[in-house]
Amino acid sequence: MPGRPLVVVHRDKALLAEASAARLATAIVDAQAARGEADIVLTGGSMGSAILEALGRSPLRDAVDWGAVTIWWGDERFLPAGDQDRNETQARIALLDLLPLDPARVHPMAGSDQAGSPEEAAASYADQLAAAAGGGYSVPAFDVVMLGVGPDGHIASLFPGHPALSATGSTVGVHESPKPPPERVSLTFDALGRGVQVWFLVAGQDKADAVERSLGGAPRDAAPAGSVEGTSATIWLLDAEAAGRLPA
Ligand code: 6PG
Repeated sequence: MPGRPLVVVHRDKALLAEASAARLATAIVDAQAARGEADIVLTGGSMGSAILEALGRSPLRDAVDWGAVTIWWGDERFLPAGDQDRNETQARIALLDLLPLDPARVHPMAGSDQAGSPEEAAASYADQLAAAAGGGYSVPAFDVVMLGVGPDGHIASLFPGHPALSATGSTVGVHESPKPPPERVSLTFDALGRGVQVWFLVAGQDKADAVERSLGGAPRDAAPAGSVEGTSATIWLLDAEAAGRLPA
């Protein structure tokens, strides 16, 4: 069983992004040293983009063998490929388009131009995960799962009180998301929990309550972020504002 979550607080959002980018590069390098490749799960949101942009600027970018990195997403807005609001599009602009990635190792979730429904996109993503997993698992043991956290405590597209919270299997089609757009695709709690390291990346005063509730043991239905742990490590990477309601 993993131990208590590690909470790391940085002065502000910019420093959080720089430090987390360095942490990500190192985690990828470590995974590649151990097993020749790395599987990472990206998050949407402004923190997700800020970290990727920081990594793109960092000299550590060249420490990584990008051809041996497999890229997954924790969730996606069910919009057509190339839409500016897709997490995939934002990640490509922030970093992926700058890197010598192997296109066969980049796994965006299908958009509304490729799948007839969020459920169809979710099923096709579950197939990709299972094909990559091996060893009888339905999801790879991701080296790093990165998760932004909403002010309501949501992670990926798992929102408080939403039926998708109880989805079984590795992926779920989401309808009537409280945050637009209403249709999305998400990894489930079970799939996110296949992360060896799970990192929560959170900045801003409006997140302080969600951070406090998640780390304080609020139930899954009220604070989804508190319900995911990495199999080896769970790390909350915060700026001082997001950490503002935690005990000193
Ligand atoms: C979405 C967003 C969302 C985001 C969090 C954290 O799909 O609507 O991606 O889930 O990741 O709200 O966002 P910030 O990093 O911008 O705080």
